[in-house]
Amino acid sequence: MTAQLELKNVSRMFGGLNAVNDVTLSVDQGQVLGLIGPNGAGKTTLINLITAVHPATAGRVFFDGRDITRMRPHQIARLGLARTFQIVQPFPKMTVLENVAAGALFAGNAHSLADAHAQARDHLQFTGLIASANQSAATLTLAQRKRLELAKGLAMKPRLLMLDEVNAGLNPSEIDDALAMIRKIAERGVTIIVIEHLMKVVMSISQRIAVLHHGQLIADGEPNAVLRDPKVVEAYLGSKFAAAHAGGAA
Ligand SMILES: Nc1ncnc2c1ncn2[C@@H]1O[C@H](COP(=O)(O)OP(=O)(O)OP(=O)(O)O)[C@@H](O)[C@H]1O
Ligand SMILES: [Mg+2]
Repeated sequence: MTAQLELKNVSRMFGGLNAVNDVTLSVDQGQVLGLIGPNGAGKTTLINLITAVHPATAGRVFFDGRDITRMRPHQIARLGLARTFQIVQPFPKMTVLENVAAGALFAGNAHSLADAHAQARDHLQFTGLIASANQSAATLTLAQRKRLELAKGLAMKPRLLMLDEVNAGLNPSEIDDALAMIRKIAERGVTIIVIEHLMKVVMSISQRIAVLHHGQLIADGEPNAVLRDPKVVEAYLGSKFAAAHAGGAA
């Protein structure tokens, strides 16, 4: 079986900096992959490279066996790849509803503006934002803006959804809500790549974990095995974490 997403030796240079360096990674349909690593490791750049925000400078990206390396962002969205942005960036003057409808239009899912609005309402219902549908996006709290990012992603009817720190800055109960939502999305069969610094969160949803460090993939596999990998402990988790979780289910 071919993987749904395949990265073959992908790199992204920024000037002299190799932000993503020769990464080969594949993700199967329906899998939830946790992507972790220190600040500046290249996690966001990897998502930007897949979605053509900052295309790969070397290597190839395949989706369903099709080479998407040189496609434009809207073409990639139309194939069913969606992502949220780490720095939440709603269109502030548009309403919450219009922001989500824009996602449906961008990915080519809506037949008309009315259809885009109807779809947007469904996603706002799902993400618990329906009561704020007609407010301007600028009025939302951080937790609400993170949910708006999720709703915008869902409006693209993704088959692969990439979540870039959707829990950052949220309180524990907001994180629980977000996790429940992510699980429901995964249950629909959507493949998910989740970038996340909170290890509890990563461990609770990931079937597999990949670790980036200085742009390179230093580990990839079953979550507990990855957490015990000395390279991962040294680069990211630290020995205190490793000692606390030694030998057992982390
Ligand atoms: N548009 C850009 N122009 C120049 N350098 C960039 C650009 N985007 C990212 N970088 C650099 O690439 C490296 C990887 O950054 P990236 O944002 O992908 O890391 P990250 O793993 O997402 O980190 P964080 O956990 O802090 O979000 C960093 O050194 C960063 O400064
Ligand atoms: Mg990042």
